[in-house]
Amino acid sequence: MDITIIGLGYVGLVNAIFLASLGNNIVGYDIDKNKISLLREGVVSIEEVGLQDLLDKFHKNLRFTSNYKDSIRNADNIFICVDTPSKEDGSVDLSNFYNVLDNIKNASNKDQNIIIKSTVPIGQNKLTKQYLEKDSLFKYEVISFPEFLSQGKALEGLINPYRMIFGVSSSNGANVAKRISQAYLTKKVPVMITSSENAELIKYASNCFLATKISYINNISQLCKACGADINKVSKAMSLDPRIGSEFLNAGIGFGGSCFPKDTKALINIEQRYGVDNSLLKSVMKINDDQISIFMNEFFSKFKRLSNLKIGILGVAFKGDCEDVRNSQATVIMRMLLDKNAKLTVYDPLAMDNCENLFSRHQHIKYVDYISDVLKDADVVFILNDCNEFKELKAYDFISLMKKPIIFDGRNLFKLEDMIGIEYHSIGRNVVLIK
Ligand code: UDX
Repeated sequence: MDITIIGLGYVGLVNAIFLASLGNNIVGYDIDKNKISLLREGVVSIEEVGLQDLLDKFHKNLRFTSNYKDSIRNADNIFICVDTPSKEDGSVDLSNFYNVLDNIKNASNKDQNIIIKSTVPIGQNKLTKQYLEKDSLFKYEVISFPEFLSQGKALEGLINPYRMIFGVSSSNGANVAKRISQAYLTKKVPVMITSSENAELIKYASNCFLATKISYINNISQLCKACGADINKVSKAMSLDPRIGSEFLNAGIGFGGSCFPKDTKALINIEQRYGVDNSLLKSVMKINDDQISIFMNEFFSKFKRLSNLKIGILGVAFKGDCEDVRNSQATVIMRMLLDKNAKLTVYDPLAMDNCENLFSRHQHIKYVDYISDVLKDADVVFILNDCNEFKELKAYDFISLMKKPIIFDGRNLFKLEDMIGIEYHSIGRNVVLIK
């Protein structure tokens, strides 16, 4: 299949390279000329297991350009993969999306299939068709094809997706959707071809359900702390019931990243517009914010003055083993500490460059190459994401390197019984004190 992909961020790039590896002919467009020159040189700019290898092997099936006319004019199938961030009020900022539509209107010279991968509000598929066809000689088949990939596991998610969802409004649209699903060559995957409104809502409903699950367990973690129970034991026992399951049941400092916070805020806004009770999702966001305050209050009640402390930070990405610091709970905590004049020594295996850019080379942040540099002579260490490397640490590593081993673990990486000899603060569990 010949496919043009507009927007080579996470979703666009992973889909482009994956589809190319299956023999499809892909044109990838991005407005960012640096990104395009790197890709032309064969360099993948994001950390995703296996992606660079696929580009190395199948680059012949890919052409990268930052000339939108060149990418759009002769395209039959155009995937829109630009980001749709949150506005201040939580509603979806569609300016990038409409820029793409304007480019399509300017450049196309034939009927085209427009496939929406960007997350957009309900009704946007139909509005897109109207917008494109207004004063145009051409017809556009607009198909919603929401993306469910998870960073760090993106290729795995494309090879073995749980499901493929397409939103269409005609039988021709349904045929195009079938051809697209075949282009992914996935076997025995439920493919649902449904209305565009259903497809648009399925994306929000799925992400917000997972966010709700996290906030639910985090709310229970608050209760555990208050009554002396242990959230890890409680969630483990809950997860043995297959109706509940174990995924997205880890208590911590809350969810971040480019999807859950944005999509939850958007669905709150959408429900409000339709006059539907949105108090559940508002609570999901409130609990998510509260997790940080509760965690940090425990720290600030112990440490009043921070300027003379060496504070270590392990993990800045929004989740472990990924380079993305967008909406990371870790960076919120770092700002809270910096606002109180703290000096931070920071390590994350993949996210250091992005963190450095975010904090514009802040004079109170020192970036180091090893976990041991963070631990050495530290007064206190925060663990803020679930990198595999951090999980390997033992109590002895903290005891032998730190001034006095005091840990604030925002991701509950260790069993309480393994933290003997350390002052160990975590989420929804009793504090372990040094005897
Ligand atoms: C998520 C969805 O999983 C994916 O299907 C969708 O397409 C995009 O959003 P992603 O943002 O890559 O993917 O990360 P995910 O692994 O889902 O984690 C999101 C956040 O929730 C992270 O901050 C993570 O630390 C947090 N989380 C996750 C928890 O706090 N507890 C959990 O049990 C699971």
